[in-house]
Amino acid sequence: MKILHVVGARPNFMKAAPVMRAFSAHEGIMQSLVHTGQHYDANMSDVFFEQLGLPRPDFDLGVGSGSHAVQTAHVMLRFEEAVLKDRPDLVMVYGDVNSTVAATLVCAKLGIPIAHVEAGLRSFDRTMPEEINRLMTDQIADLLFTPSSEGDDNLLREGIAPERIHCVGNVMIDTLVRLLPKAQARWPQLSAELGQSLPGFEANGGYALLTLHRPSNVDHPDGLRDLMAALEELAEEMPLLFPIHPRTRARLQEWNLQPRQKNVHLMEPVGYIDFLALQQNARLVITDSGGVQEETTFLGVPCLTARENTERPVTVTIGTNILVGEDRQKLRDEARRLWKEGISNHQIPPLWDGRAGERIAAITIPWLQENQKSC
Ligand code: UD1
Ligand code: UDP
Repeated sequence: MKILHVVGARPNFMKAAPVMRAFSAHEGIMQSLVHTGQHYDANMSDVFFEQLGLPRPDFDLGVGSGSHAVQTAHVMLRFEEAVLKDRPDLVMVYGDVNSTVAATLVCAKLGIPIAHVEAGLRSFDRTMPEEINRLMTDQIADLLFTPSSEGDDNLLREGIAPERIHCVGNVMIDTLVRLLPKAQARWPQLSAELGQSLPGFEANGGYALLTLHRPSNVDHPDGLRDLMAALEELAEEMPLLFPIHPRTRARLQEWNLQPRQKNVHLMEPVGYIDFLALQQNARLVITDSGGVQEETTFLGVPCLTARENTERPVTVTIGTNILVGEDRQKLRDEARRLWKEGISNHQIPPLWDGRAGERIAAITIPWLQENQKSC
């Protein structure tokens, strides 16, 4: 049996790695890997292959950046050729990026079974490009692997047959659990390196870690100006460490909004191990990333999410996440409170235990055997 995995953007890599590892523990399963090339900078792509132990891709589609239509169409055109050459029995797609929906559409038309890892997430906000990708992918995938039970509820509400849905837990947390010891071992050296490379930064004195890349936050000049002003005001009280996503770097340059406050420390995007170490040692994380909301919940680190909604509500109901939306006063007030008080209690959601990939393999293999018999 042959399984083809599709990755393209930064958050795909840490989801695919544990699933590929889990399948490789089973005999008789061949695997191949497509990298669409949606993300291509070394620090948005190559570094994750090295650190997560992903194999070199069998197909590198090199699609790069573009409008949604251009990027999705390029993935479809090039992925169709790859999948016809590879002839897998099943294609595995991850998350909610354009590469995910593009590969899913191609397979559905070719009659190739599809499994979606991280199915069922809903922000209920269709202005978010990822929400469209999630809705489309889940409607046409054959196997839907959800990270928590709200995902199952969302899918059932959309009329998806219960036998297609499997709550397996969070594969991103599999990677975190596996690599946390490496991140912990890296911290003393990393904190020393940061002290040398960032003038005035002292990691052990405490810092807030910041990531931003949602179009709703960074693609409108007035909104971004307003957000950066709130963050620069906060930086007077707490050092902000800001590994900056290339989309955001481009917008700040375009509108001349680069932070001038010396306590805002800009960095290039960092690799997985360093970012995990930075999250674990932060007093507070401010973000609009989906994955970071989950990782901070697992680590028990307070997280403020600069979004009106989240497709990961369990991080708010039992985790460490607080939505501050576009309310800049709330952002500042909550950041000051958490900086002083931290967070008193939180829980790790069920099945976020480092074994989601194994559960996916254990469900998929018999499903494929059954499916092949009936063909
Ligand atoms: C994409 C995903 C988003 C995910 C994010 C993770 C979609 C619709 N969006 O958003 O869900 O949260 O990845 O990081 O799929 N760029 C570079 N180098 C790179 C990659 C991007 O310079 O290696 C720049 C380009 O200017 C590009 C821009 O970043 O136009 C945006 O990249 P794109 O992949 O279109 O969307 P992201 O914002 O990264
Ligand atoms: N991440 C990283 N380096 C960074 C920023 C994030 O390794 O500089 C990791 C983070 O730990 C998480 C994933 O990237 O595992 C989240 O990806 P991203 O925020 O790009 O996308 P999203 O989750 O919002 O789709």
